Amino acid sequence: MVPEQIGFPHFVSAAQVTRPIMLRIIQRAQAMRQALQQMNGCTQRWPTHLQDTDGEFPCHLEGRRFLLEQREASTRTFGSFGAAVQNMGGVVFANPLDNSLIKGETLLSHWEMMAGNHPAGVIVRTPEPFEPFRAAWRFESYSGTVPGKQRYGVIVNAGDGTNEHPTQAVLDLFTIYEQLGRIDDFVMLITGDLGWSRTINSLLLLIGNVCERVRIKIAVPVVGGTSYGPPATVLQRLAAAGISYTLIEIPDHATFERVVREPEIDIVYTTRPQEERYKADPTRDPKKMVADIVACTRFTLEMLNQGRVLLFHPLPHTDEVDNGCDRHPQAMYFRQASNGVPVRMALIQLIMLELEFLLAHGLLVPPFDLGWAAL
Ligand code: NCD
Repeated sequence: MVPEQIGFPHFVSAAQVTRPIMLRIIQRAQAMRQALQQMNGCTQRWPTHLQDTDGEFPCHLEGRRFLLEQREASTRTFGSFGAAVQNMGGVVFANPLDNSLIKGETLLSHWEMMAGNHPAGVIVRTPEPFEPFRAAWRFESYSGTVPGKQRYGVIVNAGDGTNEHPTQAVLDLFTIYEQLGRIDDFVMLITGDLGWSRTINSLLLLIGNVCERVRIKIAVPVVGGTSYGPPATVLQRLAAAGISYTLIEIPDHATFERVVREPEIDIVYTTRPQEERYKADPTRDPKKMVADIVACTRFTLEMLNQGRVLLFHPLPHTDEVDNGCDRHPQAMYFRQASNGVPVRMALIQLIMLELEFLLAHGLLVPPFDLGWAAL
């Protein structure tokens, strides 16, 4: 059976995920998790095939090597990608953080080198927005220069600066599905670091592509005349996807508490104010900006106790969520994080299967033309 197309074999944007792909990922992640429970931590017990409602699918990577290219801090994403690859019988190797980029090697030259190491896949987190797109293009053109050789390396975006974090969005929506029993008809309030959050960017792109009848409320801290709202591009994307949204100004914490208590809200999705990104703007004091956002939109245990909202967060959380919330049954963030392993297994399986399908049918001839290839 022809797999649902993810568009091209690299996974760089949540915009690549269509509704049928998302439904397939949900089924497969559930199958992966069930198998993981039977495996009980022992990779030698991993089955070579699993079943979902479409029948059997191969799920063994047969020793294929994946490069972990981690150029920004990560606890969950790289931990779960490493576990996902190894659980499926793949091998991971990591690039040292102090590689030759610090000597001034260009990223283009870097990717040429990485392609030359012939990984089956590259899990990449970079501070530069769109760098995984450029890496994908570089790998494509590299494959095209090696006569008679197979394609090298599928690029997976594990976070590119302030742009996107597509695999996080997929596991967020998977968790929403598991909690609500649906991916449609819900109201989500987003807040926290609306200006720089790549996880919010990707989740909104994904919801726009995949979900129906979702309403977004955006709680924007407004302190001393400064508004910490989302960039215009995010609002444009919402409008383009036909998602209805409302902007709500939050001048103080009492307003936030009132807004969160509105009975129609199913989910609150908040994020860490990312001080490291504010440093890019010399006209603003990052510490004050973080303090302003936290003071207005801090989430407390009382707020969870008072309402029925589910609290989502990509983690790590700092003071924007009280530690007292951590074990509350409505706090979803550790569940989101542990869904990272089966969801990333399902994604890797789909991407590798896709690659084989495209190659086997000669549907992808490098170098291929992508609108963003000139980036
Ligand atoms: C986030 C990230 O790196 O984008 N974390 C994650 O990957 N789950 C959020 C953050 O760093 O604040």
